Amino acid sequence: KPRLLSGMQPSADSLHLGNYIGALLSWKALQETHDAFFFLADLHAITVPQDPARLRENSRRTAAQYIAAGIDPERSTLFVQSHVPAHAELAWVLNTITGFGEAARMTQFKDKAVKQGQDSASVGLFTYPILQAGDILLYQAVDVPVGEDQRQHVELTRDLASRFNSRFGETFTVPKPYILKESAKVYDLQNPSSKMSKSAESAAGLIWLLDDPKVSVKKIMRAVTDADGEVRYDQAEKPGLANLLTIFAILDHRSIDSVVEEFAGGGYGTLKKALAEIVVGTVEPIRARTLELMDDPAELDRILAANADRADEVASATLATVYDRVGFLPRR
Ligand code: TYM
Repeated sequence: KPRLLSGMQPSADSLHLGNYIGALLSWKALQETHDAFFFLADLHAITVPQDPARLRENSRRTAAQYIAAGIDPERSTLFVQSHVPAHAELAWVLNTITGFGEAARMTQFKDKAVKQGQDSASVGLFTYPILQAGDILLYQAVDVPVGEDQRQHVELTRDLASRFNSRFGETFTVPKPYILKESAKVYDLQNPSSKMSKSAESAAGLIWLLDDPKVSVKKIMRAVTDADGEVRYDQAEKPGLANLLTIFAILDHRSIDSVVEEFAGGGYGTLKKALAEIVVGTVEPIRARTLELMDDPAELDRILAANADRADEVASATLATVYDRVGFLPRR
């Protein structure tokens, strides 16, 4: 089976609908056909300030949401990044073959650094994509299922893998981004020109997987659309509606055309009501199962520990090869 790797930052109390549609949904399907590794990117999370107690809690919550959304920790390897020391170690080596200018071109860093204020943004935030490249290369992953916002980081990973291979000899599999066109980008419900993101200005634009379903229904009913009132798919002219249609089609496993057909002629209200039902139907079982899993943190920790052992085995083997290739003196 081809190797696959992906991860998310455990940096919020809950994952949101963008994480679910852009990543988790395809992870769940791909674990059937791939030797899949899914992790919680806690090393990445601390590139912006985190409260330690909340980070620990959110790591368990994120793991619980993976499992509740259908990631099977018996079949896939579900682990915590900081449990596998090779991530930080490979990142160091990759830092040394990355150009300063190359790193400076990463748009996510630029966005986040502007938000933080250039001078207070950490060096960790700057080298973040290089750590991400290490995550992927340690497991010799072929496919990396992510949302559109992560494409540039996977491209950097490809460049670094090829560069290392040509300098030091074939070591890394060169991975490719696995991005589904329709689900690649879920937009903010209040501001449909920006992606749905945990750092959004207003909470009204985000559907959290762990929110009370009543709150999610309200947010959908209040989603920004347009004054024209006609149900048709037009990303440029009607981005708010296009986003709702996309979410509808994906969660209801049908084409956008068939959704448009069903609701054409009706008002936006009818469409929103039907969408709210579908979203709640998707999110509610995940929320219920997550809360159940959170009731037994010891069991969650046990699952994560066992999976970390599996991940560590693969990662240490790659790191050992890398250390040898770059010319480090063996310890014994
Ligand atoms: P993160 O935690 O920001 O997001 C997790 C996943 O959710 C996707 N996503 C979206 N997809 C569609 N629409 C949206 N509005 C939306 N918002 C988020 C992201 O594309 C991602 O797939 N750097 C990564 C974590 C990471 C990683 C890795 C991923 C670290 N190392 C190695 C893959 C491979 C991140 O911050 O994702």
